[in-house]
Amino acid sequence: MIRYQSHSSATLSGKEIGLLYEGTRVHSRAYTDSTVYEIEMERIFSRGWLYIGHTSEVATPGDFRVRKMGRQPVIMIRGRDDAVRVFMNRCRHRGAAVCEVESGNTKFLRCWYHGWIYDTVGKLVEVTQREAYGPEFNQDAMGLTPATRVEIYRGFVFASLATTGPTLREHLGNAAAMIDLMVEASPIGELAVDAGAHKTVYRGNWKLVGMDGYHPNFVHASVIAAWQRKQDSGMGATHRDDPFDDKAASRTRDLGNGHAMLDLTAQRLAHYEVYTKFLRSVPGGPEYMEAMQKRYGEERAKLLIALAGDPHVGVFPNMQLINNQIRIMNPVAPDETEVIMFPVRLGGVSDAMNAVRIRQHESFYGPAGAGSPDDAEIFERAQRGMMAQVDGWIDLSRGLNREEREPDGSIVGRITDEVPQRGQFKRWREMVSAD
Ligand code: FES
Ligand SMILES: [Fe+2]
Repeated sequence: MIRYQSHSSATLSGKEIGLLYEGTRVHSRAYTDSTVYEIEMERIFSRGWLYIGHTSEVATPGDFRVRKMGRQPVIMIRGRDDAVRVFMNRCRHRGAAVCEVESGNTKFLRCWYHGWIYDTVGKLVEVTQREAYGPEFNQDAMGLTPATRVEIYRGFVFASLATTGPTLREHLGNAAAMIDLMVEASPIGELAVDAGAHKTVYRGNWKLVGMDGYHPNFVHASVIAAWQRKQDSGMGATHRDDPFDDKAASRTRDLGNGHAMLDLTAQRLAHYEVYTKFLRSVPGGPEYMEAMQKRYGEERAKLLIALAGDPHVGVFPNMQLINNQIRIMNPVAPDETEVIMFPVRLGGVSDAMNAVRIRQHESFYGPAGAGSPDDAEIFERAQRGMMAQVDGWIDLSRGLNREEREPDGSIVGRITDEVPQRGQFKRWREMVSAD
């Protein structure tokens, strides 16, 4: 066992970094050390599958969004041929970012530095003052560099910068069915990620944004108390009867490959009647329930309606589907993380219903919401505390003695157990250790 007694600036190899997680504990250096961050950028964010965006964000040919793969800037763009592609946001001339606006629609991307022009399928269509280049200059080979692999699952666009490795479906594994739960909250199986986004940056490590069912009653105590006073139904009646109580029927799940969730299904099904009474009062609510039953059958529809499109899942390493949002985490530095939240609209439902969903999202997650600012604050406090590294181990053993294995290989625990944290770190260890 390696002993970490103090701050150390010694460079660690990937294998040594992997040893920072021991199954029931992880060392603070995993959160604070710049060598760890560098290895994560190389082995997780440049090799693994990362969520880039949703096809509905680039609905029309020429629509584009700039995104990041770890530190690397990329552009997701729908080409004139209607295909969605991901390119490195980098001019093939001298490397300037070709796209400086976050989103828009364009026929061409023109580099600001010397004016080279690319089209929406990445082809270099114009080189300014072209005559200065000789016959060996191969313009056709100088298009924008595509991300090495791009695959789309039900509108969710993922990319990887590794030439080999698991397919997206292999990587998603059990998490694919959780993405389905969000998509199939729509009676036509379509999401529209077009309601804007908001960003928050906190001074803490990206791995702090976890799936943690232990914290809500402490970090979110004030808002939970307010909900309990009000006893409103909310979308999915998430917070009735304290789903985050240790004895609640809610569960934590390690789905494998680093994907993990807070499974609130039992809680929500238990409050199905209360919730659907509320839903029926929203214009378009009764029609929604009918359309869901028609499309998915009674039993599946009940589950989908109860969950309200919220699988509460973290797809390792950079995406979460929580409440009514798709969330991207971008690690900026060991102690700085950008979180971008995209509330979704369900296709095939009334405007009133989508409005209720988005208002509810704003109330907890919005810039002036009651929840997200508390999370950001606690992440910063955790990061500050972890700078004390004389005895720098973080305990992750909660619930280890009572977790169980499901037939599909996933691990299940009580809602306050650290099953998700162990699942995420298991995958983290595999990836950082692999040469
Ligand atoms: S760097 Fe883009 S045109 Fe020169
Ligand atoms: Fe939280």
